[in-house]
Amino acid sequence: MDNVKLTNGITMPQLGFGVWQVPDAEATPAVAEALRAGYRSIDTAAAYGNESGVGKAIAQSDVDRDDIFVTTKLWNADHGRDKTLRSFDESMKRLGLDVLDLYLIHWPTPARDLYVDTWKAFVQLREEGRVRAIGVSNFQPAHLRRLVEETGVAPAVNQVELHPYLQQADLRAFHAEHGIHTEAWSPLGQGGELLNDPVVTEIAARHGKSAAQVVLRWHLQIGNVVIPKSVTPERIRQNIEVFDFELDDAELAALSTLDRGGRIGPNPDEFNG
Ligand code: A2P
Repeated sequence: MDNVKLTNGITMPQLGFGVWQVPDAEATPAVAEALRAGYRSIDTAAAYGNESGVGKAIAQSDVDRDDIFVTTKLWNADHGRDKTLRSFDESMKRLGLDVLDLYLIHWPTPARDLYVDTWKAFVQLREEGRVRAIGVSNFQPAHLRRLVEETGVAPAVNQVELHPYLQQADLRAFHAEHGIHTEAWSPLGQGGELLNDPVVTEIAARHGKSAAQVVLRWHLQIGNVVIPKSVTPERIRQNIEVFDFELDDAELAALSTLDRGGRIGPNPDEFNG
């Protein structure tokens, strides 16, 4: 498993397991299966309603807590300094953890305009040692710029919708300039049309791999952190079997041509949840 290096020398697995839309009760067996398959990074959120199920799987696993990189996220209704600190405590109680590896602001929630105050509380949590790394999700360059200008602290990662149909070139360039790691949510385009795209399936056939594995390999090779989601044990196992082949330059170029602004989720400039 490859790692990326975040600020402060913290390492994060480049491939993790996502549990968006996985009900709490199903999260426990799914995370258990992922840990057995070799995943060492789990991505949840307060809004997913499954932090307890995730925490239970971590507690029951043979894998040491210190060997698992756990991410959760602060929901939109909980922005602002005091609510952030309270919400963090509640997430940690549900997860059953003392220290979190990565805490993310889930959305900038521009209508409330509290993300800078929220970020200051995140910085405090990191200084207190309760969180090892802090970052954001669904932030656009303008939001990121404000955080840096008003607090001097850049997020370690920005987790955004990203897949071959929505490649986010401008945002990725901005991240590279500011030392922010790009993390892709819905890296498989939510398992829809993308996995039947002839450009993807043709490359997959050439390597004897699945379409999902080719898309995940593309993410890894362009430097993204990825968190594919699945509740299907066979797919959970398949999605981590992506370190034994490589796409060549022509294949990467072919996948690059698929970019078409194909956003599936909400526009972060308009979403206030
Ligand atoms: P399921 O959970 O029923 O296995 P994303 O991570 O881009 O949001 O994609 C998640 C969706 O893709 C889920 O619906 C998941 O289905 C499906 N999926 C995950 N892994 C694979 C795979 N290897 N092949 C096909 N579909 C997959």
